[in-house]
Amino acid sequence: MSERTQQWTAEFIPSQSGRRVLITGANSGIGFETARELARKGAEIILPARSMAKAKDAVDRIRREIPSASLIPGVLDLASQASVREFASWFSGQYPGPSIDLLINNAGVMAIPKRELTVDGFERQFATNFLGPFALTALLYPHVRQQEGNRIVIVSSSVTKWAKIDFTNLQSEHRYSPMAQAYGQSKLADSLFALELHRRLARAGSPVIVTSAHPGYAITNLQTSGPGNGFSPFRILSAILKPLVSQDAAHGALPTLFAAVAPDAMPGGYYGPDGLLELKGYPKAVVIPPLAQNLGDAERLWSEAERLTGAAFQI
Ligand SMILES: NC(=O)c1ccc[n+]([C@@H]2O[C@H](COP(=O)([O-])OP(=O)(O)OC[C@H]3O[C@@H](n4cnc5c(N)ncnc54)[C@H](OP(=O)(O)O)[C@@H]3O)[C@@H](O)[C@H]2O)c1
Repeated sequence: MSERTQQWTAEFIPSQSGRRVLITGANSGIGFETARELARKGAEIILPARSMAKAKDAVDRIRREIPSASLIPGVLDLASQASVREFASWFSGQYPGPSIDLLINNAGVMAIPKRELTVDGFERQFATNFLGPFALTALLYPHVRQQEGNRIVIVSSSVTKWAKIDFTNLQSEHRYSPMAQAYGQSKLADSLFALELHRRLARAGSPVIVTSAHPGYAITNLQTSGPGNGFSPFRILSAILKPLVSQDAAHGALPTLFAAVAPDAMPGGYYGPDGLLELKGYPKAVVIPPLAQNLGDAERLWSEAERLTGAAFQI
């Protein structure tokens, strides 16, 4: 890792001219900032949101600042396997063959107070944060151009340091706690997925690399969209920490941007903020939690995700 990771900012993003990028959850927070900075550097950005209105609103907001931006809105609900398939099929029709340079799995939801099930009968955080992105990546992988510099990025969370995968409780059917257990499990699943995909692509000799990132503690809609505004231990902790150690979404997006485009980012690398407890700061390589490096869990989770979603990677 070179010194460039010290105080790396969006100014260091190399030209993205001629590159096609797909970012999930780009209508809000970190995803929006990521899309805006990559658009500023000339990438064509496909930004699907849960509704066309939300996607178009994000397009409008970026265009107001960058009139020349090339932005394509779309519709994708990661909590619905049918929606993931519909989006992937739309994508294949619009952009057949190898057509994408960078796929950023950013969308997520956090700390839904009570266990909810999706239309597919999956626990909502596990479905949105892991199963949806897994299926989307599997379905779009054939469209990733096999060339140096191309990447798949998965946005995880520092909560993975304390999280566990419980294969007897993947859908939180026996025990549900919103943050540490259900959200933590879904984000640890993301980290296991990132590393397993990295290993599989490396074994296959693909030039495409997989990286992951966490934003630290960035003030976005994440803190309210899932938990809501009601009383909860999570909201109390947030209120205490927020003035001390949070950062804005633009800074929260830097580790993702670094993982996505910095020439220094390593295959399988994991990036987060360099400040106290990795809560804020500039991107640096951060330690991958040991449980995210468990090979047995990674393979078992992969098989489980294929079984549950019916999506299989052609690597
Ligand atoms: N902010 C932090 O401090 C923090 C810390 C650790 C990790 N992260 C991770 O960073 C990523 C981005 O979060 P953020 O902080 O930028 O939060 P955010 O502002 O709430 O953005 C989340 C995005 O994900 C989208 N999304 C939620 N459910 C979806 C679904 N079912 N299908 C498709 N898109 C969906 C949201 O769409 P809607 O606008 O429709 O809700 C929104 O665009 C997440 O993966 C999160 O876990 C954030």
